[in-house]
Amino acid sequence: MSEPKSRGEFRGTRIPGRRRVLTGIKPTGDLHLGNYLGAIKPCIDSSRDSASEVILFCADWHGLTDKNRIFEPGTASIPCLAVFLCLGFQIEGNSLILQSDFPQIQENAWYLSCATAVGMLERAHAYKDAIANGKVPSAGLFYYPVLMASDIISFDSEVVPVGKDQAQHLEYASDMVKLFNNMVGADVYLEPKPLTQEETPLLVGVDGERKMSKSYGNTIPLFAPKKEIEKRAKEIKTDSKGLDDPKDPQTCAIFQILKSFGSPEAVAYMKERLEKGTGYGYGHAKKDFVDEHERVFGQKRELYEHYLKNPREMLEKIEPGFARAESYANASNSRAREALKLTSFRL
Ligand code: ADP
Ligand code: TRP
Repeated sequence: MSEPKSRGEFRGTRIPGRRRVLTGIKPTGDLHLGNYLGAIKPCIDSSRDSASEVILFCADWHGLTDKNRIFEPGTASIPCLAVFLCLGFQIEGNSLILQSDFPQIQENAWYLSCATAVGMLERAHAYKDAIANGKVPSAGLFYYPVLMASDIISFDSEVVPVGKDQAQHLEYASDMVKLFNNMVGADVYLEPKPLTQEETPLLVGVDGERKMSKSYGNTIPLFAPKKEIEKRAKEIKTDSKGLDDPKDPQTCAIFQILKSFGSPEAVAYMKERLEKGTGYGYGHAKKDFVDEHERVFGQKRELYEHYLKNPREMLEKIEPGFARAESYANASNSRAREALKLTSFRL
């Protein structure tokens, strides 16, 4: 294979001085504290950093690969985007978008797939796991990594922060870019850099054993009513230490979950009280936990519910980001068409 023609410092639509960070999240109506720690908070923090340009999108097309929840993406996308907006995603200069608003992604996905060997997709973990578990995988599931690679390259993304479970998908995205650029002999798509968040440990669920996940039903939601948060907090598993016994914060699930969202003061307070023990039982810790949850998320709940009832108001806020992202996606489609010598027959 010949080396792609280098266009020197080819940057596509990337803006000098701002690294373009892109990440996708599959829509689900009940985002929880694990999602907050691993995905939502890092993304919001980057959106507030002027050296980064963040494109965060709700991956509703990817959500369709789960046949049992086929109608979930259509209904959960508004709540998913509302969470980011309510919790402080800075919309100026960044983009909050819905994947299915961008047909350009499907077009680039097709071009990438024509440069990709079937064997590579057969080695993808999610596909192999489905087969190992006796499932009959859909062609959509097989194609999942191509669509994900296309999400990334359609917007000339530079850095893609994801959890460890997505590392293989990012390797695939880089490989597909190289394969495509080699095939056409030009730098059409830009290679992304993965940013796997190895340092972010997985948050434990209320069972105190497995990672917090909606599949295990062990979550603490972000915006449920206070009564529901109290109920979930009561379910957090603890050991049998008594009211006055010193307790180890490292093994206390209440404390571990509090750390994912609590202020440094609230975290330090609970740590000290647990270690000391005297007069501070797990019941007290759970009450402090609920109070802090209410302080951090409770005051945003009203805005969140307001957006759910008035989605248009939210969509008007995010519209400028859509137009910007659309210009990037159009540019990547045009470069691919040009390199492939595809010309339109429309007069
Ligand atoms: P779930 O396990 O509830 O289905 P997803 O797989 O949809 O969650 O995860 C969406 C994002 O949230 C991913 O980026 C993932 O890394 C992050 N995430 C999910 N659960 C946790 C957790 N317990 N701790 C840290 N990050 C998490
Ligand atoms: N596959 C990712 C997940 O399950 C979601 C996703 C879709 C994504 N497209 C993406 C993440 C592009 C990063 C970049 O979590």
